[in-house]
Amino acid sequence: MTYNNKHIQPIDQVLLALLTDKNQYVSGEKIAQHLSITRAAVHKKVEKLRLEGYKIEAESHKGFILKSPLPYKLIPEVIYQNISVSQCPEILFMKSTTSTNTIAKEIIKERKEPFILLTRDQVIGRGRMNRSWQMSADKDIAMSFTVPCNISYSLLFSIIRLVSVVVCQLLNKYSDNQCMIKWPNDVITKDGKKICGILTESVLEDNEIKYIVIGVGININSDNLPNYADSLKELTNKECNINQFYSELIESLVLLWEDFPKNEEWIAKEWENLLAWKNEEVVLMHNDQEFKGVLKLALQDGSLILEIDKEQKVFLSGDLSRINLKKI
Ligand code: BTN
Repeated sequence: MTYNNKHIQPIDQVLLALLTDKNQYVSGEKIAQHLSITRAAVHKKVEKLRLEGYKIEAESHKGFILKSPLPYKLIPEVIYQNISVSQCPEILFMKSTTSTNTIAKEIIKERKEPFILLTRDQVIGRGRMNRSWQMSADKDIAMSFTVPCNISYSLLFSIIRLVSVVVCQLLNKYSDNQCMIKWPNDVITKDGKKICGILTESVLEDNEIKYIVIGVGININSDNLPNYADSLKELTNKECNINQFYSELIESLVLLWEDFPKNEEWIAKEWENLLAWKNEEVVLMHNDQEFKGVLKLALQDGSLILEIDKEQKVFLSGDLSRINLKKI
């Protein structure tokens, strides 16, 4: 699978300039100077933005002003503008794509530098265990980011744990604590319905792992999901501002990542606190075999302990569900 560079859109600096000076006219000349482009190029860009649905008014001697409401959609510039952390990796955007993980794996081979890839519409989303992952365009989150791979396997698990903790905490902030982590790293609602999935993949070079790509899918505003899944909107009966959610998500990820691995212990503790179904009867599908037992705890290395016939058994992988609940 190859990707075409022209489908990748870095942050649009003209739109960003118009967003930054909210409710104020910005002169074409000032934008041109700031971006080292011609005024004609600014005008051309403004025309293009208008065609995309942005309401940009112009007044002579004053310049341009961006009017509300903005088009109702995911706007990477708005996401970017609301992120205040300084060390944020580059944010790349694709209006539509097959799978952000697939494309991110291609891009990282060329760019080498970490980045975050977002899309408005992912049409061949992939999940764990060769499952597919569906999203609604402009309503849900599909993003992938890259991690250079000079880290050990145990640290890798901690990074994935970091991601599930960030997602779960943020969903809890928006939903009044209605979400939990399903081992190892799905986020589910208290009813056991899936709201977020994480897919981690590696990129090899010369038969060595060089990068890790972590893909995160979150159901934010989609409706009519199958009964084993839920969205933040259905959970709270409220539409969520997806741009705001994205900004907070990226900002929290960057902040925890900056402190990593010093904060590893804290992350492990939070993850354990958020873990669903402790001391409840669960079923684990592991290597096509079903194990029924009581979920005891998850260890520092992320493995799971089930009590089966009074014996404790450790598992490193598998698909967990709760007894009497449809498998999710
Ligand atoms: C799961 O099976 O629970 C993992 C789902 C992961 C979905 C995300 S959406 C963004 C990224 N791109 C993909 O194709 N998959 C992941």
